Amino acid sequence: MTNYQIIDGKAISDQIKQEIAAEVQQIITNGGKQPHLAVIIVGHDGGSETYVAHKVKSCEQVGFKSTRIALEADVTEAQLLTEIDKLNNDADVDGFIVQLPLPKHISEEKVIEAIDYRKDVDGFHPVNVGRMVIGLPCFVSATPAGIMELLKRYDIPTSGKNCVVIGRSNIVGKPVASLMMQKAYPGDATVTVCHSRTKNLKEICLQADIIIAALGSPEFLKGDMVKEGAVIIDVGTTRVASTETKSGFRLKGDVAFDEVALKASYITPVPGGVGPMTIISLLKNTLLAAKKEVYFSTND
Ligand code: GUN
Repeated sequence: MTNYQIIDGKAISDQIKQEIAAEVQQIITNGGKQPHLAVIIVGHDGGSETYVAHKVKSCEQVGFKSTRIALEADVTEAQLLTEIDKLNNDADVDGFIVQLPLPKHISEEKVIEAIDYRKDVDGFHPVNVGRMVIGLPCFVSATPAGIMELLKRYDIPTSGKNCVVIGRSNIVGKPVASLMMQKAYPGDATVTVCHSRTKNLKEICLQADIIIAALGSPEFLKGDMVKEGAVIIDVGTTRVASTETKSGFRLKGDVAFDEVALKASYITPVPGGVGPMTIISLLKNTLLAAKKEVYFSTND
């Protein structure tokens, strides 16, 4: 299949940003409050700083207010929990996130559980994860929601398809597997989750109509692991050193793009595929939080 189609996450995300911006404008015209996202970042991890900068910039682009709270890497867990408590109780903040990963001395589980689930626009809190699994209104975590949006906007059939998810992280693998099996579109797929202990991974992938690669291993998925016409979603964003870029690195996906694309019907590039959609989902969740459409409405 040499006529593959690129799933252009950048173009779709630009389109959705315009939709969100128009909605924000409408809220303000009607006398409503500007949606407000706060982001806590701990330490100086290069990747996290870049992601947070993108999140803050995207807020500006759609007309949200944003607050960036930067804490040093040696902040104590108790101090971080105090900051979370302040945001939980700040009526002006509609939603907030704590950028991961956190320094080793801080428990990510404790931090996530400390966030008021009604402001958890990352969708990481166990209440949101649980509600997502049983199909109740909730904040769905950003990357899986972004993948669903791409499938929807490209009208890719999922019902009855074999979907293989490679990777079982709490942030991507587990939630996206759950969404792909939900009784709705996009979903209704027969889902197999593969991970580091999976035997016959190649044989399983060769049965897949849709592969979602989310293991964080550059160019792991090769052409000979993919059947003709498969839909390929690449969630990998590993930074590898490069002399060809100003930053000194470039992002590599989990898919060996050149060889896999020749087999694929649709494929996401890295960068410009799933990545831009992750931020869009965060903006969408923040807008839902601001409109009180998830936890303070009659849907609740
Ligand atoms: N680190 C990598 N991806 C994410 C994300 O979606 N949210 C947060 N909070 N941290 C991350």
